[in-house]
Parts: sequence; C-alpha cells; structure tokens
Amino acid sequence: MSRTRRTSAGGCTVRHGTVRHGTVRHGTARYGTVRYGTVRRLATRVALATLPVAAAGCQAPMSTLTGGGDAGRRVAALTWFLIIAAAVVYAGTMALFVAGLARNRDRDPSAVDLTERGTGFIVWGGGVMPAVVLTVVFVVGLLAMGRFPAEASERAPHFTITGHQWWWQVDYDDPDLPGSFTTANELHVPVGQTVRIRLVSADVIHSFWVPGLQGKIDLIPGDTNEIRIHAEKAGTYRGQCAEFCGMQHANMAFTVVADSPESYAAWIAGQQAVAKDPVDSLAAAGRELFTGGPCAMCHTVRGTNARAQVAPDLTHVGSRLTLAAGTLPNDLGTMEAWIANAQSLKPGAKMPTLTQFNGRELRAVAHYLESLK
Ligand code: CUA
Repeated sequence: MSRTRRTSAGGCTVRHGTVRHGTVRHGTARYGTVRYGTVRRLATRVALATLPVAAAGCQAPMSTLTGGGDAGRRVAALTWFLIIAAAVVYAGTMALFVAGLARNRDRDPSAVDLTERGTGFIVWGGGVMPAVVLTVVFVVGLLAMGRFPAEASERAPHFTITGHQWWWQVDYDDPDLPGSFTTANELHVPVGQTVRIRLVSADVIHSFWVPGLQGKIDLIPGDTNEIRIHAEKAGTYRGQCAEFCGMQHANMAFTVVADSPESYAAWIAGQQAVAKDPVDSLAAAGRELFTGGPCAMCHTVRGTNARAQVAPDLTHVGSRLTLAAGTLPNDLGTMEAWIANAQSLKPGAKMPTLTQFNGRELRAVAHYLESLK
C-alpha cells in the first residue's frame, strides 16, 4: 500500500512523500489485541501529521523559533533544546519498547519473572533517568529565564499595558514623555532600544506574549509585572494573549511595531495630538452620531466630548493595523460590519451590536473613525 498526500498548512504546501506500509515484518504477530503492524502504521501517521505543523511553525508569525532580538533568540535556543531533548527521550523510549516487544513476543506473559536485574532496570530507567533528564531541562530553563530581562538603562522608556476581556489598553505614561496618551491593541517601540512594559489586568489573568521578542508573562489582577522588550529589527511582531481568559481569549491579539527612531518620534507626536477635525461633511455627520450616540458611552475620542474609558480609546483608531484586538483588518467595510454586528464577529465581546444606525449613518460613523489617523 502506498500513497502520496498533500496538506496545506499556513499557506505553504507540504508534500508528505510516499508512504509504504506494505512490508511490515511482524505483521502477523499479536500482543494482546493490538497488532504490531497497526501500531507501526499509527506511529507513521502521527509522525506525518505533525510534519506540516512543524514546517509551518518555522515561518509563522507566532513562531518561537525565529527570535527577533536577544530575548527572542534565547527563547528560540531554549525551544530547540527542549524539542531535541524530547525527541531523544522519545526515540530512546520507543526503541526500548519495540526491542522489548520483539524480544519477548513468543514468551508466555504469566511466566515472566521480575528478577533482580529486571527490577534494577525499572529503577534506573523509570526513576533515575527521568529524574536526571528533568533536572537538566529544569536547570537549562532556569538559566535561560534568569538571563531575562535584558539590562535596561535607567532612562529606558516605560509604558503600561492593561489586559481587558478581550483587548489591550496601552498607556504611554512615561514621565519623560511630554504628554501621556492611551491607545489600544498596538504598541510602538523604538528599534534598537530597550523599553520597559508594566503589565496589569482589569479583570482576569491574561498573558502577554510576543514570541518574536520575548517569553510570556502574566497580567495578574492586583499585581504589577514588568517585562523588557528590545527589537533589533524594524517591523511588526504579532502578540497574543497566552492565558485562557474567557470566550474570546483566542481573539485577544495585538501588534508590536518596531519603528526607526524617526518614525517612532513621529508616531508618538501623532498619538499625543487630539483627534483631527472631520475631513468632510460625511465625517462631520459621523462625529455627531458618535459623540451624541451610544459610542460615547464607552469610548474616548480626545478632542471631542466622548470621554468614557470603558472601551478602547479611538482617538487615532484609523491609524491602527487591526480592529477588535487583532481579530479583523482595519478598513471601512470591516469597521461598518464591526459597528453594526460586533457580536457576530466576536461573540461575547463587550462591544454591543448597534442596530440603531441606518445605512447612511453607519457609513458616516465608520468613515469618521477611519479618518482618525
Ligand atoms: Cu486574555 Cu487570554
């Protein structure tokens, strides 16, 4: 029996090659009710099924194997060490298992005698060996963790990130900044410079995780944690909540944008500014509807009388890459859909479905928000 199969994973096609199951040497041997051949076929399938995952993992945005900074590289090295250690232990265990099956397949199970030698093997193989392996893995992990965070100079800028169900509030509240401001779900950092991030939670435990830049750290209600990030290359790094925090945990993502010093300064200046005045009559109508309607009960747009702080600050929402914490692309059509029926796009989110806007009003509000660059 042979076959060729293709699987698409993460946008790339992985060819599994030709798999042969035809020559199973112990095909007729039975151990209990499980055939040796069945075990072997199952093992082959499991191994093949994990291939596309491994292949996709190398280049995916949430890969821990491609570190984008000093800390990211340490995480990548630790991950490779753990993968290789686990593979060696697995291969050794399976080799012993198969050797045991092959050696004893004609023996009567009731005649097996646990001699002194057999017991010693269990003590060494089942007790001492795992203890040694786990201790080595533990110490290597501790050493890797102990070298975080990278040293930050006293003047390293710091920000505060607050985890909410299911979005990230980002406060640029560094005392060295001439004006603090609040944004959401998108963090800009200067490339080549260490920044300190204070992490708190408004409700339940979340976990801040940007695999390209750092390890994970929890956001714990009533406690403040700190993490340092140092991006060596300009670009965008995807982040994700890594602690189950309720229904939309999986849609609690964010973006870290590492800017050149000039772009970073320009971004800070842009974010510190209050919202632009409407660019046209449609945007003006949108602002009226936004500030006079239900939106202003939860959101802030600095420079208007919408000042509620329950939901993300929308002062410059049009400049962000995503909507709904990394769930959706940020464009006019998606903004309309989000306003009109957030519950169909992110069920359980605190953003209600707003049915009171007619088509033109919906377009006006979305157009206004998209104009807030
Ligand atoms: Cu927040 Cu999971």
